[in-house]
Amino acid sequence: MDRIRIRGGNKLNGTIHISGAKNAALPLMIIPLLSPETVTLHNVPRLADVSSLRRIMQNHGVDITTAGKRAGQREDSGETLKISAKTIVDTTAPYELVSKMRASFWVLGPLIARMGEAKVSLPGGCAIGTRPVDMHLQAMEKLGAECVVEQGYVIAKAKNGLKGGHISFAKVSVGATHAALMASVLAHGDTTIENAATEPEITDVAQCLIKMGAKIEGLGTRSLNITGVTSLHGAEHTVIADRIEAGTYAMAVGMTGGDVTLRGARADTLEDVILTLRRAGLEVTANNEGLRVQRNGSGILPVDITTDPFPGFPTDLQAQFMGLMTMAKGKSHIRETIFENRFMHVQELVRLGADIHLHGDMAEVRGVAKLTGADVMATDLRASVSLVIAALAAEGETMLHRVYHLDRGFEDLQGKLSAVGADVARIAGA
Ligand code: UD1
Repeated sequence: MDRIRIRGGNKLNGTIHISGAKNAALPLMIIPLLSPETVTLHNVPRLADVSSLRRIMQNHGVDITTAGKRAGQREDSGETLKISAKTIVDTTAPYELVSKMRASFWVLGPLIARMGEAKVSLPGGCAIGTRPVDMHLQAMEKLGAECVVEQGYVIAKAKNGLKGGHISFAKVSVGATHAALMASVLAHGDTTIENAATEPEITDVAQCLIKMGAKIEGLGTRSLNITGVTSLHGAEHTVIADRIEAGTYAMAVGMTGGDVTLRGARADTLEDVILTLRRAGLEVTANNEGLRVQRNGSGILPVDITTDPFPGFPTDLQAQFMGLMTMAKGKSHIRETIFENRFMHVQELVRLGADIHLHGDMAEVRGVAKLTGADVMATDLRASVSLVIAALAAEGETMLHRVYHLDRGFEDLQGKLSAVGADVARIAGA
């Protein structure tokens, strides 16, 4: 297994190109299941999760080809995928494939909507809590599907097609909102989704569905109204920039000091994060290129945060922010309200010399003057990058093990950090 070696202490200066968002690219790769025509996606990040989903889609009979570079396209822009689900040959998504990545469970909705049936393994993905799928199933049932769980599989049927319904979620869920949207666009009649997630990735997917002919109103609000159509057609769409990747690199700059432009980052998807980083003593400014992040001289100030659904502070940046707070000038409190058990990075940060105490869903972080490099273990996707952030400022050498977690969601992390001055090397496993 590969490892990443980081020698801390270098300031970061220069430009980092922000890739397309993993959390938008994955559902965008799934919605072509709803149409026999080709959907072209631009700016798809090169990630292990994208490759896994490709295999899952191909198993259903979907053709995916990678198009060559277009004239004027930048070296670092993402891939263009042409996705065509002319015929769906298999409505089963098997355990071997779905267990690798939770988002692949989301094929359930489009398969029922288009084919009237689906058999999808219960999901895997990052071990950050129990992560049930009850709300996904409730949404399918409200749209007229019959769902049973047998031997680790969800078996869903809607013999005469789905029909519009009223879906009201007990809590905000990104995945359940995607599922309800993807299924209702082809249902007979009108659907309302109350307490919908408003994450920018949901809006990005909905905008692509609209280009495919779907009728969706209320984008960006907690209440979505969908009028079902009988068929969807092909479309072309560019994946939105990854706000979590942008926030991660912003925190890395906060940790080391320096001046970095995050090219392509969108301030409108990061408002709460930007305010929080400014309170922590960083200068963050939006410009034509994206976001410019600076910390010069002044230390890091402690800031308390609580994770919340969008537009609140994202749970996917909680671990990275904790990394930053380990060297703040004082005590901060970090509350995780979305997932239980999303503190696995704490014990690894402590190995680098951080002073963190857990009290239920709250971590108390007392800033230390110095971190020291050590061997640490990546435990999940976002947790592992918090260790990278801490290691960039730690004295000496840190060796990060199990980097396949990082490969799932960060495109060319080592290349991007090296280009702005970090001492990062990937060491191939034996
Ligand atoms: C998505 C993101 C993930 C992010 C998370 C929260 C993708 C590929 N993944 O994950 O990066 O951390 O949103 O922003 O986009 N829940 C239920 N029942 C359900 C579904 C969810 O109780 O049927 C709970 C979960 O356990 C969790 C909360 O709802 O406590 C939010 O989870 P959800 O928004 O669904 O996360 P994911 O869609 O899995």
